[in-house]
Amino acid sequence: MTGKLSANIAGVDFNGVLINASGVHCQTEKELDELLNDDAVAAPVTKSATLNSRDGNPKPSYFEFENGSINSMGLPNNGFEYYLKYVETHKNNKPIILSIASLSKSECVKLLKKVQDSNFNGITELNLSCPNVIGKPQVAYDFAATDEILNEVFSFFKKPLGIKLPPYFDLTHFDQIAQVLNKYPLSHVNSVNSIGNGLLVDIDTEAPVIKPKGGFGGLGGHNILPTALANVRAFRLRLNDSIKIIGTGGVKTPEDVFAHILCGADLVSIGTELNKRGIGIFRELNNGLLDIMKNKGYSSVEDFRSALKES
Ligand code: SIN
Repeated sequence: MTGKLSANIAGVDFNGVLINASGVHCQTEKELDELLNDDAVAAPVTKSATLNSRDGNPKPSYFEFENGSINSMGLPNNGFEYYLKYVETHKNNKPIILSIASLSKSECVKLLKKVQDSNFNGITELNLSCPNVIGKPQVAYDFAATDEILNEVFSFFKKPLGIKLPPYFDLTHFDQIAQVLNKYPLSHVNSVNSIGNGLLVDIDTEAPVIKPKGGFGGLGGHNILPTALANVRAFRLRLNDSIKIIGTGGVKTPEDVFAHILCGADLVSIGTELNKRGIGIFRELNNGLLDIMKNKGYSSVEDFRSALKES
């Protein structure tokens, strides 16, 4: 598809470039329907689903501050079957991304076998980067474990599958994880999940602002934009061209969306600011992005995608 704002991942056409970050405005059918019915949203992404429904971590587990957020939600979700049924039966032609998470490798394999056997032929995203499940590591920081999971998964999974990654901070780590990812027919990487295990303290109460894990939680919001852009750029420079990129992190303004695309993002997702401002943000960012493109003389996102220049 070649439109002003469009993308294609694994043969799936997106009529737009903006999506929600999994976790925000996507836990219930009602929230997903609102995203589905909003023309400014290219695709809803479901809340990362585990085999069984979960209440998530004790509250307060989310806190917003200026230009940022910290969360330790702990994967609250209505269970895999709820989301599978939703993506199998929704009546809109818009693509939808099914996000799944798991508490073990065997659960991951079980869930993806169910997707493989289902009527859902859209894009699935495997979240290997949640920092908030108590007692569980962020799998994608373990390159050998990630390789092992993808090796097993791609022995039977034949539908489009992407992976949600944590942020990396060391150039050799980008090289190492990219080497693993390039071995597999991934549809995309979604980069980045929140910056894991930050700590924000309330000086009045002299306690952390969130309760789980002693106050440790994932950082999101505009403050993490440079980390997100660096990850998108680093992966675009290292991954096979067939592996597309969903840029997530730090988006507050149309300029931030533009920067993500310039660094290599095919789609751009909105998390903290969607939670703060509601779904009207999609229309605002779309319009703002079109204005930037008009001012620069670009008629399509293809005119500047991945085209970051040298200083
Ligand atoms: C959560 O539910 O804890 C957030 C999801 C994630 O970071 O993957």
